[in-house]
Amino acid sequence: MKLIELKQVTKTFNDGRKKIEALKQTNFSVEEGEFVAVIGPSGSGKSTFLTIIGGLQTPTEGQVYINEEKFSELEEKKRAKKRFDEIGFILQASNLIPFLTVKDQLRLVNKINRSNFDKNNAKALLDELKINELSDKFPSDLSGGERQRAAIARALYHDPSVILADEPTASLDTDRAFEVVEILGRETKKKKKATIMVTHDERLTDYCDTVYVMKDGVLSKK
Ligand SMILES: Nc1ncnc2c1ncn2[C@@H]1O[C@H](COP(=O)(O)OP(=O)(O)OP(=O)(O)O)[C@@H](O)[C@H]1O
Ligand SMILES: [Mg+2]
Repeated sequence: MKLIELKQVTKTFNDGRKKIEALKQTNFSVEEGEFVAVIGPSGSGKSTFLTIIGGLQTPTEGQVYINEEKFSELEEKKRAKKRFDEIGFILQASNLIPFLTVKDQLRLVNKINRSNFDKNNAKALLDELKINELSDKFPSDLSGGERQRAAIARALYHDPSVILADEPTASLDTDRAFEVVEILGRETKKKKKATIMVTHDERLTDYCDTVYVMKDGVLSKK
């Protein structure tokens, strides 16, 4: 089943008199349980591609389907709701809230979607990511790798169907980077997610099922 599908998607920015084609016409899909890497030079359109899939910006042309539902054309409020339910984001700097403990980062998810804290799920996830003993610590007390694992736990906690990771290993040394990517791959398979990871580091793509290269807004299979 295709959890992500892009049909003839483009993104153009108007920068004064200049038109920037950040994403040229793109057809693309990711299956359940598939771990995709997107590599490519700076400014090639990787983040544009990822944020369009995540509904953080809309395509200029074409449609994005998430879990077989047209996503890009939903009105903003419905799109925000679907984004929250279906998509987990993991960013470079882990985007954890500095004044919340690891456990409270998960509780915040419950606050936002007005659900109850799921103690068992939280414990299982934190165990799996080997950070259970850190659950009462603040982000500033964690190493970079631990912070990224906490960010992965938070992204997975509400069980979205899609995981989008933009340079999730950029702040990590090589060993930690491999560890984080290995975890992302494992969770993708085990929980049948569709995961896209943008990375500069080609070595990290060993764990991925499919590797794409972005160049000047053109996405192609490696
Ligand atoms: N909001 C915007 N307005 C104008 N131009 C933009 C905007 N966002 C991105 N661009 C341009 O679109 C192109 C692609 O940018 P994007 O951020 O997607 O690249 P990237 O591949 O993620 O780069 P990096 O590896 O440095 O993160 C660049 O030329 C960028 O300047
Ligand atoms: Mg980027």
